[in-house]
Amino acid sequence: MTSHVLVPDNVHQKAIDILESTAELRVSAPGKLERATLLAAVVDAHALIIRSGVTADAELIAGAPQLKAIARAGVGVDNVDLDAATAQGVLVMNTPGGNTISTAEHSIGLMLALSRHIPQGHQSLAEGRWDRKAFTGVELKGKTLGIIGLGRIGQAIATRAQAFEMSVVAHDPYLPPEIAVALDAPLLALDEVYARSDYLSLHALVTDETRGMINADSLARMKRGVRIINAARGALINSADMAEALRSGQVAGAALDVYEQEPPPADHPLIGLPNVVHTPHLAASTSDAQITVAVEAAQLIVDFLLEGKAANVCNPAG
Ligand code: MLT
Repeated sequence: MTSHVLVPDNVHQKAIDILESTAELRVSAPGKLERATLLAAVVDAHALIIRSGVTADAELIAGAPQLKAIARAGVGVDNVDLDAATAQGVLVMNTPGGNTISTAEHSIGLMLALSRHIPQGHQSLAEGRWDRKAFTGVELKGKTLGIIGLGRIGQAIATRAQAFEMSVVAHDPYLPPEIAVALDAPLLALDEVYARSDYLSLHALVTDETRGMINADSLARMKRGVRIINAARGALINSADMAEALRSGQVAGAALDVYEQEPPPADHPLIGLPNVVHTPHLAASTSDAQITVAVEAAQLIVDFLLEGKAANVCNPAG
């Protein structure tokens, strides 16, 4: 029997080529679909390949009675209702390694842009001004970077920050301490990381514990003038509290790639503040990473549908 694989997002052509060269599969790759079209398209799908722009919620999963697997071309599966998938026997898989370097490099880029006011300087010159005084920056050398979540991406950031002669400390309740010791990025209690960091880079998953962890209370426990980088998930930050801390100077600057709602609303409290640098969820958007995650996701689906092999499973009971 032919299985229908639907790719309702902009996933690299190499993934489509792999799927289309597999005789047992029928492939639809219409690009990014509006919600109503998406709901109609999933009705006879056996597998989906998605990026963060598609929300595979309970309604979508229930509307796809033949669905067997969802492959996420990326890391985060917060856009998939894992419980609904499990209840319907749908396996959810991701591609956890493919984005690591791109995301780490973007985070370092954000840290430099924040420290040297690069977007603001660019904008000022583009508008015809020659203002050197307004954009005096700070060096990374000799500063302490605190990393919240020392997984693959956090570790890649640690080694890159050390190349800039930064000291690195980290908080990660799940990492074996010997990995942090080998990295020279000691694991500390959260408060200790807050107290010591000149820069704080977030790389945690959103859970009940971490949702809104950067809030008025935690911000008050940080060093005055801390700079915060978030290329993980917007929901880690309470945006109203962060805006207040940016206005008061408790936080000197923030660099953001992710937002609780994407795209963020026009009146988002952090967008457009003079000491905030922002990008539209670009950290994993390199041709290198998009090829890697797309090819991995396509291979996961082929292996599962044709051979029953599952890897990188995010809902083990699925
Ligand atoms: C991820 O979770 O893989 C990244 O945020 C990139 C993306 O969602 O496309």
